Amino acid sequence: MKKIFVHCSLTENQESFLRKHFIIKKHDANESVISTDELVKVAGKFEGIVCQGNLVDKKYIKENKNILKAISNVAVGYDNIDVEEATKYKIAVFNTPNILDDVVADLTLGILISVSRKICLGNSYVKADKWKKNSWPLFWGDDLKGETVGIIGMGNIGKKVARRVNAFGLNIVYHNRNRLDKNTEKKLSANYLDLKSLLMQSKYVVLLTPLNKETEHLINKNAFDVMRKDSFIINMARGKIIKEEDLVSALENNKIAGAGLDVFEFEPKVNKKLMTMDNVVLMPHSGSATYKTRIGMMDLACKNIVNYLVHGSNDNLVNKRIL
Ligand code: GLV
Repeated sequence: MKKIFVHCSLTENQESFLRKHFIIKKHDANESVISTDELVKVAGKFEGIVCQGNLVDKKYIKENKNILKAISNVAVGYDNIDVEEATKYKIAVFNTPNILDDVVADLTLGILISVSRKICLGNSYVKADKWKKNSWPLFWGDDLKGETVGIIGMGNIGKKVARRVNAFGLNIVYHNRNRLDKNTEKKLSANYLDLKSLLMQSKYVVLLTPLNKETEHLINKNAFDVMRKDSFIINMARGKIIKEEDLVSALENNKIAGAGLDVFEFEPKVNKKLMTMDNVVLMPHSGSATYKTRIGMMDLACKNIVNYLVHGSNDNLVNKRIL
């Protein structure tokens, strides 16, 4: 039997499904995070890894290239894995696409409305028993209808966000590596813009793009300099897309009106200054975090590795170049 390493939480059913096919070594990263170097010490060598955003870096892949055959990530994003290096050695990388699109889009709208209508601030006031009859102007927020939302990254999740945004009567502009076809643009009522124009025009800037060399620190001082002073930035993608120190300084200097962040540059560490700002809503990387979706993603990651290592099929293979 092949040996695999499971570096995340799984249900009992999922674990016994894997045990039918593999010898499993387990380290639950929810309990403590360990590096891939430490992983080898704990678990020895293995042919597959099931992980959830844990780092699988160049060094680890290189050292294990003769035995490692597959890495299955419980996530749609796979920036935690050095895919280039894996591809070099024909190591298959899998992700869990599609299944999380609706719930991430739901939370995007939730955070957008929270920042625009100051839901978290209002909630904390009422719970702290600070609500005074005349304190309500503090909670006046911003309209959605007639405003413009700029979506950066118009993939599956971006499109789901656009459909929801349509229902609130916002105008949609978007920026994407590849422009959508005219028909899809029309269906979504979304107009393509270059990045700078999108940043200049949008009241709500929503980040939904994958993290890669092109998008790391895409939103930095230069971006904040051109954004509207009354705009909000909402990051549902990856923390490193925003240069966090530039965001803090933009907020401190009122260059933008606020932020809604589900992800952070150095997560789970969060910049302390962000924690003190009333115009900032923070969530602990929860885009896909509903019971049904998370269990579904874990199921899919288990199936992906069994399908590949046992049955030789390639569903949800990221690096198709290895075939
Ligand atoms: C979550 O962040 C994911 O990439 O699935």
